[in-house]
Amino acid sequence: MGHVAVRVPAKVNLQLAVGPLRADGYHDLATVFHAVSLFDEVHAEDCPALEVVTTGPQADAVPGGADNLAGRAATLLAARAGRAPEVRLTIRKDIPVAGGMAGGSADAAAALVACDALWGLDLGREALAGLAAELGSDVPFALLGGTAVGLGRGERLTPALARGGFTWVFALAHQGLATPQVFAECDRQRAGTAVPEAAVSEPLMAALRAGDPVALGRALGNDLQPAALALRPELGALLELGRAHGALGAVLSGSGPTCAFLVESRDAGLALGDVLLASGDVRDVRHAHGPVHGARTITPRVED
Ligand code: C5P
Repeated sequence: MGHVAVRVPAKVNLQLAVGPLRADGYHDLATVFHAVSLFDEVHAEDCPALEVVTTGPQADAVPGGADNLAGRAATLLAARAGRAPEVRLTIRKDIPVAGGMAGGSADAAAALVACDALWGLDLGREALAGLAAELGSDVPFALLGGTAVGLGRGERLTPALARGGFTWVFALAHQGLATPQVFAECDRQRAGTAVPEAAVSEPLMAALRAGDPVALGRALGNDLQPAALALRPELGALLELGRAHGALGAVLSGSGPTCAFLVESRDAGLALGDVLLASGDVRDVRHAHGPVHGARTITPRVED
């Protein structure tokens, strides 16, 4: 097989509970991941040496070379397979870059699936999930997709019982936020306080089991939100604006700065999108639904 294409979704955290800082610099999390229909594609083709190319409007913002997580994924998989990473990865970028939607992690997950197929390794999902966890806290979920509880750094996953689907609007910020910076601000704000262990919200899990968007909207929560709002005060007003214009719930996506709005219908989402865009604090709005599948091979189009 000379060409494999993989489609991989973005995520939003329906809940992100952040526990105390650990000795290894990470935080124990209790999070509920939800895969949404904003997708990157990663194409893998035979090539004498590792090459990573990114296409799309935000391509310039994606790190190249050794910093690119998809390239690191190919290198890691090749090392485990005892071969050279002879592959060209072309990332068709649509997930917001540095937006708190795990776009880089998604590309790494997609690269694992694509190279596994290209090289005929057939390692299986469990082995790929182990490699994914080495690459980053959010990479295993990008493989799995759907709606899932994440514990530990976020890499210990259990699929959640969830009924039906949900409609989302995402407000993209003009500038990204670096995840380590947001966690550091969270630690700074909490200095001198006793931080409880992170726990999954029961009302949120009940809302998912019932497929109840109103209850889900009320239960959305993100412990990183105060830190991100301290770094980007305009995001607080944006979340408020969404709530005032029909959102069932409004929450920072991951470490931000993307804001996620749960809405009752696509029409409600389109109306809210116009309001958010008019605020001037939003680079773009994106409409999506969830849950969707994790990283999966697709048939490359003829022109590919
Ligand atoms: O695992 P990943 O490389 O995606 O994490 C990026 C950064 O986010 C880490 O370097 C750390 O600062 C922060 N982080 C954390 N606790 C987690 C996950 C990420 O502090 N559970």
